[in-house]
Amino acid sequence: MNASAASDNAVTPEDHARRARAVLDDGAWAYLSGGAADEITLRGNKTAWDALRLVPRVLRPLVNGHTRVPLLGRTLEHPILLAPVAFQRLAHPDGELASAIAAALFGAGVVLSTQASVPMEAVARQVLPEATRGPLWFQLYMQADRGHTLALVARAEAAGYEALVLTVDAPVHGARDRERATGFRLPPGIRAVHLEDLPKPTQQPLARSESRLFDDLLLGAPTWEDVRWLLENTRLPVLLKGILDPDDARQAHRLGAAGIIVSNHGGRTLDTVLPTADALPGVLDAISGAIPVLVDGGIRRGTDVLKAMSLGAAAVLIGRPYVFGLAHAGARGVAQVLRLLRDELEIAMALAGCRTLATPARLVK
Ligand code: GLV
Repeated sequence: MNASAASDNAVTPEDHARRARAVLDDGAWAYLSGGAADEITLRGNKTAWDALRLVPRVLRPLVNGHTRVPLLGRTLEHPILLAPVAFQRLAHPDGELASAIAAALFGAGVVLSTQASVPMEAVARQVLPEATRGPLWFQLYMQADRGHTLALVARAEAAGYEALVLTVDAPVHGARDRERATGFRLPPGIRAVHLEDLPKPTQQPLARSESRLFDDLLLGAPTWEDVRWLLENTRLPVLLKGILDPDDARQAHRLGAAGIIVSNHGGRTLDTVLPTADALPGVLDAISGAIPVLVDGGIRRGTDVLKAMSLGAAAVLIGRPYVFGLAHAGARGVAQVLRLLRDELEIAMALAGCRTLATPARLVK
């Protein structure tokens, strides 16, 4: 084997991250890989999965094992979905289209970001015809103007999206120090295509004692009342993403949410918040199986997927790992990452004695 063939073998998620770093400029790398402030939550998410230790059961029958899971009325080949990540054309010219195609071929669900750099209709056209595909969901940022929110919802419904994922943990950006240090700006030609027809909010003049955040930018921030309104104004199931507190989970369920995604936005919003692996049990407890609870944040290996499912998650989402695959090799890179995680999950299941994901592995901390 020659050297270049050997080096083409990306065998770990870290290999994909290294390759992504090599092809991205400093600003894009900071935006795609970075977190908020000191990145304590970004690191903590991964450390929390690492800290959970598997206690394998041996000699159990494994014949006819599989990774299939039920989710919102359908059976998925495996429990891995692509989390919404904005501006994927920053990573690769094919952007969200490449990620969605790879996902559809590998049975992974896709959650397309409101801030996608490719129109939602184009993504849906690629995904919907694939027999192997997973669910196709649209991530929604509530807009300050309800008419604008409704227009996005109507587009997603018409394009064939099967659920809305309302992100509730980011009424403002986190303090993205790493991004700011590089002076990151979106390059020309890469835009949030779903938002560009919407009028830009004008900055209100403020009195000296007023806060730009509380007296201007947050005036349109969504509240539980907006969640109630959204649920009344769409025929799609709505999952709430960005919940860590069991009381918020209960309230989401009471209002009629179809599911919850335990998430801290990949450590990109409020730094030092609880890692998702540590928040998941409390939310699961509060919900008692009434609606599916998914989780993201720091999931890097098949063992992490098995741990999340063993705690009781209905499915998991990955973000940076697939974006790194996308960055260095387009759809092929995303496919490699999905393949890797799925293979690792199967190996982890077999070695932990779990024939299916309905048999949880025992975990200790
Ligand atoms: C957008 O949601 C981001 O985290 O950059």
